[in-house]
Amino acid sequence: MLIKDTIKVGNFTLKNRMVKAPIHSETCVDGKVTKETEKHYEDRTKGGRFGLVVVEHCFVRKDGMASATQMSASRDSDIDGLKRICDIIHNNGSVAILQISHAGCGASREVTGLQPVSSSNISVPCGWPNSKPNPELPRSLTVNEIHDLEGYYIRAAERAVKAGYDGINLHSAHAYMLDQFYSPITNKRTDEYNGYTIEGRTRIHMELIKGIREVIGDKSLFALRLGGCDYTTGGTTIADSVEACKRFEQAGVDLIDISGGTCCFMRKGHTYPGYFGDISEAVKKEVHIPVLLTGGVKTVQDAEALLQEQKADMIGVGRIITAHADWGMELIR
Ligand SMILES: Cc1cc2nc3c(=O)[nH]c(=O)nc-3n(C[C@H](O)[C@H](O)[C@H](O)COP(=O)(O)O)c2cc1C
Repeated sequence: MLIKDTIKVGNFTLKNRMVKAPIHSETCVDGKVTKETEKHYEDRTKGGRFGLVVVEHCFVRKDGMASATQMSASRDSDIDGLKRICDIIHNNGSVAILQISHAGCGASREVTGLQPVSSSNISVPCGWPNSKPNPELPRSLTVNEIHDLEGYYIRAAERAVKAGYDGINLHSAHAYMLDQFYSPITNKRTDEYNGYTIEGRTRIHMELIKGIREVIGDKSLFALRLGGCDYTTGGTTIADSVEACKRFEQAGVDLIDISGGTCCFMRKGHTYPGYFGDISEAVKKEVHIPVLLTGGVKTVQDAEALLQEQKADMIGVGRIITAHADWGMELIR
């Protein structure tokens, strides 16, 4: 079975090609890991059945907090709790990376106490298919504020490595902040971070890749989760994402993790395993680093079929593991 084959990603050789996708466990209090969070990860990673575990999105700054129970990587005092989760995954035998994120226009004042900020003053549904847009319009970031925000992402990545993680996953999908720069639907800027050229739409990503690499070093695994298509007129296209991923590879990303853009993590009218496979297949043909595909996979056989069809190099699984904590044990038998 291809799914049980090892794969080299950056400096790591993963024991298989099955990935536990990032899924918000909704177990943190004031951003801090709790006993419930520890149990959530212990139950879902035991046996070391996944080649790679991506730990749920952590906010890099308070004004980017997507929900009241979200995990934080925004303060040095978070490192202890982040380390406890990392140790659980390592002790179980998998490589572990931490996802870092800012919700942008999706962060409501109700949760953060702060005005939302974004690439432009546009509000769209974020994080969750069919969610409602934040009723408060975000304030558009100035160029200086973009540079300041980059510092928060970089420090969060540094904390991940200090906590023992093998690397990070930079969240640029599901209409969150970096996707708000990437998608022309949300990015109406006309400066160097503009929404009408690939250079402008990916400038913040390119600056982050450089800045994060400097603090996590060459040996850490750098994954980038890209909302690879909006599947709507005027939105991001698969051709854009092929171009963007070539740039990300060149800049030093080790793994491209494909999901949806402003459509979030589901695709209307498409429920079959690997429903973002048209994106990952196109990207895989044009880059030399591994491509990860997530969405709709319910069995190890589904994942195997997607690999056989060359849709991707690795397969992520989310909701089915939340529902069935023991899912995938056959991978280690
Ligand atoms: C409850 C829930 C929480 C999620 N949390 C995250 C997250 O923290 N970061 C992220 O990039 N995607 C998140 N996702 C999306 C999943 O990683 C995955 O892409 C999606 O569930 C589709 O894969 P699946 O069909 O295997 O579940 C979440 C999805 C759900 C249902």
